[in-house]
Amino acid sequence: MEIRPLAPAVGAIVDGVDLAHLADADLKQIIAAWDAHNALLFRGQSLDNDGFIAFARRFGELEHAPIMENGRTPVPGYPEIYVVSNVKGPDGKPIGSLGAGEAVWHTDMSYLDNPPDASMLFARELPPTGGDTWLAGMCAAYDGLPPDLAKAVAGKRIKHDGTFNSGGYKRAGVEVKDDPRESVGAYHPIVCAHPRTGRSALYLGRRRLAYVEGLSLDASEALLDALWAHATRPEYCFAHRWQVGDLLVWDNRATLHRRDPFDETARRIMHRTQIKGATAPIAA
Ligand code: OGA
Ligand code: MN
Repeated sequence: MEIRPLAPAVGAIVDGVDLAHLADADLKQIIAAWDAHNALLFRGQSLDNDGFIAFARRFGELEHAPIMENGRTPVPGYPEIYVVSNVKGPDGKPIGSLGAGEAVWHTDMSYLDNPPDASMLFARELPPTGGDTWLAGMCAAYDGLPPDLAKAVAGKRIKHDGTFNSGGYKRAGVEVKDDPRESVGAYHPIVCAHPRTGRSALYLGRRRLAYVEGLSLDASEALLDALWAHATRPEYCFAHRWQVGDLLVWDNRATLHRRDPFDETARRIMHRTQIKGATAPIAA
């Protein structure tokens, strides 16, 4: 097994490992790399649904997939698997979430009080081009905060909106409000301590309908714009171009991700599992 960083601020590639037959000693090294890099890429994996779930369980207890935009559970018999896909089923409705457009920067399910610690995305079918997934390292982004921003966020919390997903689709059963103070969501500290490593990380969730607690709406918008501009600077990012059989796992406590759009007439099928949050996000 060989482990190499993908970018200075986030991600490492783990070569020479078959995740369907993973030895405990290899898992130990993988978890150490996970703590150091906050996202890991494994290539050329062949895993069926059971194999994917079995590997994901080695990172922790699994969360059931969120209900899709159409109100259905994506994979019958596998409530843990979330499908990200633009492909339409026999009923003419998408078999998965997020369509073919851009998925804007976010971290998964932070509108919950106890968001998932990690998400794993496994590429089953891909368009010829487009649909790259970007990661941004929030430990490095925290370390690089200019002093005025560091001061502005100290001790503050953000409300993480639960109305829309990153593809811009409304979640099933939620009412749309224009004022972020009235919409569904959860408050979390802006600067969180990583429960495994103790490192401080920016925890931003998603930009749309976010709100910084205790500020006027205008002041909140201005601070959020400055924070997001900083956190997504190129030096904190890595763009992943997928191959079928790639498995990418990211730490939702220490990274953001987004996806490039792709041709809506092409097919893209990704399977995702989410590792349950061991604790609510902890203030640094
Ligand atoms: C996700 C997600 C982006 C992608 O699965 O949480 O944001 O590349 N996916 O499909
Ligand atoms: Mn996501």
